[in-house]
Amino acid sequence: MIQDIKPIVTWSDDWVTGIKIIDDDHRHLVDLIQKLFHSMMTEKGTTFIRTIFVELINYTNTHFNREERMFKKYGFDELDRHKILHEQLVEQVLAKGKHILNKGRQKDLSFELLDFFKDWLENHIIKEDLKFKTFLIKNNIQV
Ligand SMILES: [Fe+2]
Ligand SMILES: [Fe+2]
Repeated sequence: MIQDIKPIVTWSDDWVTGIKIIDDDHRHLVDLIQKLFHSMMTEKGTTFIRTIFVELINYTNTHFNREERMFKKYGFDELDRHKILHEQLVEQVLAKGKHILNKGRQKDLSFELLDFFKDWLENHIIKEDLKFKTFLIKNNIQV
C-alpha cells in the first residue's frame, strides 16, 4: 500500500523564509522528491520515473534562477557564493543521474541519489537560503 510507505521527506516550518515565492518553490520541490520516491518504491516504470526526475531537475533550475534574480534585485551580498552552490548541485545531480537521463533503466536512478538530493535541499534551505531572510531583516528590507 502506498499509504504504508514512510515519506522520504516532509515539509518543516523551520524551513520557512517568509518569502512566499521562495517558500512555494521549496514546498513544490519537496513534493516532487516525495513523488519520485513513491514512484520508485512502487516501481512505476522507467518512463514515468524519468519524467518526474527531469521535472525535478527542471524545477530546481527554475527555482535557482528565481532565487538568484531576487538576491540580485535586493543586493544580497552572498549572491556569488550562493550561485556556485546552486551550480554544483545541478552538476552533481546531472552527473550522478546521467544513466537514467540517457534512457537507462529504472534501477539507474538510485535511492542514494534521491537521498543525496533530499539532504542537499534540506541543508541548503536551512544553512544558505535562510541567510537571505536574515539579510532582509538586518537591512530592514520589505519584499
Ligand atoms: Fe532555495
Ligand atoms: Fe538557494
